[in-house]
Amino acid sequence: MRSTTVFIARPVFPDIIDRLRPHFDVRTHDGEAPLSQPELIAALQGCAGVFITGSEKIDATLLDACPRLKAVCTMAVGYNNVDVPACTARGVVVTNAPGVLTETTADFGFALMMATARRISESERFLREGKWKHWGVDMFAGGDVHGATLGILGMGRIGQAIAKRGHGGFDMKVAYHNRSHLAPDVEASLGATWMALPDLLRAVDHLVIVTPYTPETHHLIGAGQIELMKPTATLTNIARGGVVDDAALAEALAAGTIAAAGLDVFEGEPTVHPALLALRNAVLTPHIASASVPTRRAMANLAVDNLLAALGAGPDAGRPPT
Ligand code: DGY
Repeated sequence: MRSTTVFIARPVFPDIIDRLRPHFDVRTHDGEAPLSQPELIAALQGCAGVFITGSEKIDATLLDACPRLKAVCTMAVGYNNVDVPACTARGVVVTNAPGVLTETTADFGFALMMATARRISESERFLREGKWKHWGVDMFAGGDVHGATLGILGMGRIGQAIAKRGHGGFDMKVAYHNRSHLAPDVEASLGATWMALPDLLRAVDHLVIVTPYTPETHHLIGAGQIELMKPTATLTNIARGGVVDDAALAEALAAGTIAAAGLDVFEGEPTVHPALLALRNAVLTPHIASASVPTRRAMANLAVDNLLAALGAGPDAGRPPT
């Protein structure tokens, strides 16, 4: 029996988890639903490492109840579900999975923005419900994407990949808001202009939110911010639900303050604010922006690399082709 035990908190591609088996005693949670906090604490007893997703909460209470834990490795890029200072204070290494999901997530953000602007979900529902009786001049007429002004809130890797699509492929004007400015050559290559948040909100036709969720970005977009936007504008959120005040957004969508929203993330997900569910002008998807098979495999492989490295087994141990 191996002396180091790791726990895999969600069902993950078995061949990727097999990479850990020569090095560790591997325990898994095979149920589809995430474990409750008490179940997770019970499962982690005696474990030195844990492989998590964005769904498991790692906080001080859990860490104190699991004193042998040395490494928390998430396959997500976002890590707002992990109390990093609490981990650091207890000598627990935290890793995430940046980089490998950038392009896939940008593809989805762009697709969701397009679906929102061009009313794809709403018109499909209409067709499936048998309501299509004739072609109509303004039937499901939405806003244009090409040539429009794309606003990006949070200009990290994914924000820049979305800007590249808008600027290079769709002749969009790109404006962004971020704590720091991009280097001038990067701005030039993306055709991107930094703006203060209120100016950005006033200028954009399509806003895409990609900023990390932190105490500073909690409800960064609420009623007061949405009011600054054009009535024809759309808002797409692929970051985290808490960046947007979902109740305020639902009210704004119902009142026509902005034209439509595309949301892949929600406050308190998987629960979705009932007012959003009732709206025709909201395109809603279940947190799938990074969900292509190659990308989910790359994310899982990177988390396994990190777990191996954090617990001293080396990053190349047993790596299969992707
Ligand atoms: C991420 O990687 O942060 C995605 O949102 C999946 O949780």
